[in-house]
Amino acid sequence: MFVKVAKLADLPAGESMTVEVGGTCVALFNINGQFYALNNVCPHRGGPLSEGFVDPRNLTVQCPWHGWIFRCDTGVSPVNAMAKVQKFEVKVEGDELHLEVD
Ligand code: FES
Repeated sequence: MFVKVAKLADLPAGESMTVEVGGTCVALFNINGQFYALNNVCPHRGGPLSEGFVDPRNLTVQCPWHGWIFRCDTGVSPVNAMAKVQKFEVKVEGDELHLEVD
């Protein structure tokens, strides 16, 4: 099911934020008007992906702690397919952002 997590106005293009969903901290990204959501906790040592460097051309985020890179649309590392972070489906409903949760 999808749950409302934010207003569109909360997340302008080029920005990221975190939301709490069912006890999980989720990083939301607005990349050129498209929305993506990953578990905020880097699988390496727990760095905050919402504070990472986003590359809009490659749709990637780089963890601010040690530089691991993940695709925002899949959660998979383009460097090492074994390294991945949970990805969430995001839906726009009117002026709201909704995330799919179990
Ligand atoms: S904690 Fe993310 S790269 Fe180390």
